[in-house]
Amino acid sequence: MTTGQQPQGSEAQIAVHWREEGYFYPPAKFIGQANAADPAIRDRFAEDKFPECFKEYADLLSWDSYWHTTLDTSNPPFWKWFVGGRLNASFNCVDRHLARAGNKAALIWVPEPETDDPQAITYRELYRRVNEFAALLRDFAQLKTGDRVTFHLPMVPELPVSMLACARLGVVHSEVFGGFSGGACGDRIADSGSRVLVTMDGYFRGGELVDHKAKADEAVATARELGAEVDKVLVWRRHPGRYASKSPMVEGRDFFVDEVLADFRGSLVEPVSLPAEAPLFLMYTSGTTARPKGCQHSTGGYLAYVAGTSKYYQDIHPEDTYWCMADIGWITGHSYIVYGPLALGTTSVLYEGAPNYPDAGRPWRIAERLGVTIFHTAPTAIRMLRKLGPAEPAKYDIHFKHMTTVGEPIEPDVWRWYHESVGKGDAVVVDTWWQTENGGFLGATLPALEPMKPGSCGPGVLGIYPVINDENGDVVAAGSGKAGNICIRNPWPGIFQTIWGQPERFVQIYYEKYCRNPDSTDWRDWPYFAGDGAVQAADGYFRILGRVDDVINVAGHRLGTKELESASITVEEIAEAAAVPVLDELRGRAVEMYVALKPGFTPSTDIEQKVAKAIETHIGKIARPMHVWIVADMPKTRSGKIMRRVIAAISNFQQVGDTTTLSNPEIVDDIRHHVQAEKVARGETPRELTPQEAEEIKSFGHAE
Ligand code: WTA
Repeated sequence: MTTGQQPQGSEAQIAVHWREEGYFYPPAKFIGQANAADPAIRDRFAEDKFPECFKEYADLLSWDSYWHTTLDTSNPPFWKWFVGGRLNASFNCVDRHLARAGNKAALIWVPEPETDDPQAITYRELYRRVNEFAALLRDFAQLKTGDRVTFHLPMVPELPVSMLACARLGVVHSEVFGGFSGGACGDRIADSGSRVLVTMDGYFRGGELVDHKAKADEAVATARELGAEVDKVLVWRRHPGRYASKSPMVEGRDFFVDEVLADFRGSLVEPVSLPAEAPLFLMYTSGTTARPKGCQHSTGGYLAYVAGTSKYYQDIHPEDTYWCMADIGWITGHSYIVYGPLALGTTSVLYEGAPNYPDAGRPWRIAERLGVTIFHTAPTAIRMLRKLGPAEPAKYDIHFKHMTTVGEPIEPDVWRWYHESVGKGDAVVVDTWWQTENGGFLGATLPALEPMKPGSCGPGVLGIYPVINDENGDVVAAGSGKAGNICIRNPWPGIFQTIWGQPERFVQIYYEKYCRNPDSTDWRDWPYFAGDGAVQAADGYFRILGRVDDVINVAGHRLGTKELESASITVEEIAEAAAVPVLDELRGRAVEMYVALKPGFTPSTDIEQKVAKAIETHIGKIARPMHVWIVADMPKTRSGKIMRRVIAAISNFQQVGDTTTLSNPEIVDDIRHHVQAEKVARGETPRELTPQEAEEIKSFGHAE
């Protein structure tokens, strides 16, 4: 949705029309037990209480020493929270629960094979495992405070153990989603300057034991090409003592963690007392260039923010059994599987595999067996589970009090199925809008106090004051029915500190656009530009429309068009490439690639497959395009820029609009006939787009 970037953006075009949905109210039973049930909480976080209001979140943590300055704005927009305070995240998520709850499950891990029983890991055991691995990282891998280490781990308890072991030492972890390719992992190793890679030999996904260690070898090779040497690869084994990969262990470089750990049995490592602004981890995400951005998150501000939002927005109590079905390889998993829930001392469920394995009843069987009270997932999973097994939830004895959705806009009818069929009408649904960069929720309803509205995330969360700006920086009024760029007017503790190694991009991407005065140290002059289009209804609720930059959100995963395009042109035959989104019933959006060949090559399915393969190698299977279209030429402006909105329109069976600015308008009909005929032949018939979807396609890409 790039409403404002439309050169011909008349008011009629940017007006967004849809039916306003009605409210749903939280059940009395929920309100009766909610952490935030007193409406005065809104006053405590009112703008005139900013930034001191966030003391309430920081006070959920145990500090080694208290801070003297809540918010330091002296070097904008590099905000510092809780300055002078010292703490350790591992201590806060593990040690401090031992006295009261040492024998309670911190994590319950559910292996994918249904014949394997879930494993509960108590806080006491977690403490042991974190300490032993921290000792290994320190004494065997020689890592020290401030070093970076890359993980390429799947959904196994070894992942949170590794994270918390790093946090104990102040070593900055950078987890790369397990489904990403070795190449993508190697890029991130090099960018972060990690000397150590922590991985696993294999894991179960969709009924298969995936060979994962092979990716480590590719990662190390890619990092080397980029000038970064990995000294040690630490390989956890899915079944300790039994190696599941075909890839050979490299002498002197690769080590089985279970073997090395034997030397550290019973070791204890004192948690390092760190300044609040010490970096806790990096989480890479996609943006407008091919180079991924390492979002650097802090220790004190981040942990306070995820603890506070977990308490008030997810309504986590220590007695809950909480299951977030996201992958820890994404920010949602970091904040709302590991750090937030464990900081609050609850029981967090971890599931290894695919939600539909072996069938669409699996999540409900897990929830039934473990007595899950809070369930957290993404619209893509909800759409898939509904499609594969609409009647499944009714068959199980599941009773959620609270259900979260995150990562993509949720269609109102999908929302209603979630509420009625999964929640059995008894649960609150909290639609949470936020981003990798943000640490925690930005827009959501306070579950006991604010009614739900399908398709809207709700108002800004406590202490967050969003605004919609138009391209000129003027405020788009609530209830005007017009879309614009959603911004946050104030800093908050969970905001990332910088892009690792690229502070100038940090300022440029997120703050330059709406900065009122670059010399000002007043936070009011530095609104945060989120990169999402949104509309605000008269009641103050936001409806998020999607990215305004070159990012395609596939099943909740952010894919940068530039990354897809640069992966495609690594194929020898390819001269040019352009990635566009197509609407997809299950995944929200899917990717289609358009490629033009270098002179002397002829189109073939072999080349199409090479492009798909290159994307898989450079990014991962999740990025695999729906189609690769080989075209004689790309539609281009006279200055030679590819007009992505034209091909996006073709892929989505929309009108191509004005093509008079093209240098080669004749190509458009050729491409359309070729692409649409093939789609129709494959039974991919177009469905009608909503006005905002049509708008997104019509304005896709900046190059026009
Ligand atoms: C989109 C995920 C609508 C949005 C936590 C954002 C959403 C991007 C929602 C961030 C939501 C996230 N409704 N859209 N509730 N939540 N998004 O960095 O476009 O993986 O900018 O963080 O996902 O994706 P990311």
